[in-house]
Amino acid sequence: MPRLVLLAHPAVRSAFARELGRDLEYHERIDSTQSRARELAAQGAAAGIVIANEQLAGEGTHGRSWHASAGSSLLASWIVRPAPRSPALFAALAGVAIARALDTLGCEGARLKWPNDVELEGRKVAGVLAHATSDGGGGVLVLGIGINVHQRQRDLPDEIARTATSLAIAGHTVDRLALLARLTRELDRLEEDGELQRAHAEWTERSSVLGRAVEVRVEGGAITGTATAIDDEGALLVHTATGVERIVSGEVSLHGR
Ligand code: BTN
Repeated sequence: MPRLVLLAHPAVRSAFARELGRDLEYHERIDSTQSRARELAAQGAAAGIVIANEQLAGEGTHGRSWHASAGSSLLASWIVRPAPRSPALFAALAGVAIARALDTLGCEGARLKWPNDVELEGRKVAGVLAHATSDGGGGVLVLGIGINVHQRQRDLPDEIARTATSLAIAGHTVDRLALLARLTRELDRLEEDGELQRAHAEWTERSSVLGRAVEVRVEGGAITGTATAIDDEGALLVHTATGVERIVSGEVSLHGR
């Protein structure tokens, strides 16, 4: 039996929650861990993780859906309170946390594509979705992460078959519960003193777009130039023929591809 589903048992779940130092809500099937975690955050939950074996209405970035067949993926949302100073930077650096967690499980060499994609061998293996709200206090961030773990090539929907991958397709057998534990540790590490700066430097090293000619699709058009950095707010800096553009939201592709 896949180990993640053992979280359905209260004794296993509470032992694991103790190990991770926060509440854990497990669903065999749910519309979206992200919408459930946002609901819990709105009710005042301080910290916690909502995790599912299957989502019926998984949410992706830019209003898209996130598809993953039952049992194929790590699908989880973390409630982070107070919210980090820059939720957008934190969401980008969550990519570093994912890459580090994958390293520790033997899946080395993950690269990062602005804003929040994690790639293996040039294809997307994980995505991050962030919802930050302010509440008069420190605010709250709900960070949703989907990692393709067990999919075979034939399981990938046609529209992403050429651009997506999974840990299995890349040749790795990874236990989702172990991945959840490692990833939670790496996300916690981002909140320790000095770690955000270290992770920012690592994001730069792992970036698949910095130093490259890119086209960034933004609302109302496209910007072409050379991607040079992400700033302290998680924005992408692109040197164009007319100056430096600071891009807060958009979709990057390598120019000419
Ligand atoms: C992206 O589009 O790249 C971000 C995808 C984020 C998907 C995860 S799966 C767990 C969490 N729950 C959701 O509904 N979405 C996020």
